[in-house]
Amino acid sequence: MTTPSLAGRAAISARTLRTDRWWLPPLFTALGLLAWVAYATVRAFMQKHYFVEQYEYLTPFYSPCVSTGCVEASSHFGQFLPDVWWLPYAALTLPFLLLFRLTCYYYRKAYYRSFWLSPPACAVAEPHASYSGETRYPLLGQNLHRYFFYAAVAISLINSYDAIRAFVTADGEFGFGLGNIVLLTNVVLLWAYTVSCHSCRSLIGGRLNHFSQHPVRYKLWGWVSRLNERHMALAWTTLASLAITDFYIMAVSAGWFSDPRFIN
Ligand code: FES
Repeated sequence: MTTPSLAGRAAISARTLRTDRWWLPPLFTALGLLAWVAYATVRAFMQKHYFVEQYEYLTPFYSPCVSTGCVEASSHFGQFLPDVWWLPYAALTLPFLLLFRLTCYYYRKAYYRSFWLSPPACAVAEPHASYSGETRYPLLGQNLHRYFFYAAVAISLINSYDAIRAFVTADGEFGFGLGNIVLLTNVVLLWAYTVSCHSCRSLIGGRLNHFSQHPVRYKLWGWVSRLNERHMALAWTTLASLAITDFYIMAVSAGWFSDPRFIN
């Protein structure tokens, strides 16, 4: 008797028998990712309109601002990178953020499908003749995701610090405006995305034989698992919240409109 694993694929010459518009999701994914990367690249190298000194609003794209070109009040962690046009002011953290997202399980699926067409959709044959998965260089490096997770936690802490610090105006008074809500919302979403990471879930609930003997970890694992179910949605929501937060701060900093203030 032939087992299913030995039977191989059915000999169907058509690339797919799907009749729905299966190409729409990968197309929208590619357009969305390209648009975000284009915006983020322009902003990361713009080197202006990243800080509202009066309200201590610092965009996450420039945090921490560690270049000697940064406005002094925006540099909460010192200035030690040279001020050259090709080096983003937050060059210390941006590569790690990029690598964290690039190796994320969800984004892998997204760009494998949308850019490499490997495969472009379920039940649609890929154009490549062979498939080695993530067993060889360079895709073997995707395994480093678990380490980039720690970097992402550190960066989320820095973003949280920025959001909290923005409640104190340049005059040293408590202040609260729409920008605070934007910064805070972004940080909460960033934490939700970071904590919903598959590496975080296995860090909390992995390597245990009996959940019954670890009730706290079991509880945490349950919470993280619920967030993990929404990881794809959080991946997109945080791309949007990062861009909106950055755009808001750029607009206030450039004087396109004033930040509505509720207190001070
Ligand atoms: Fe997406 Fe870790 S799996 S951030």
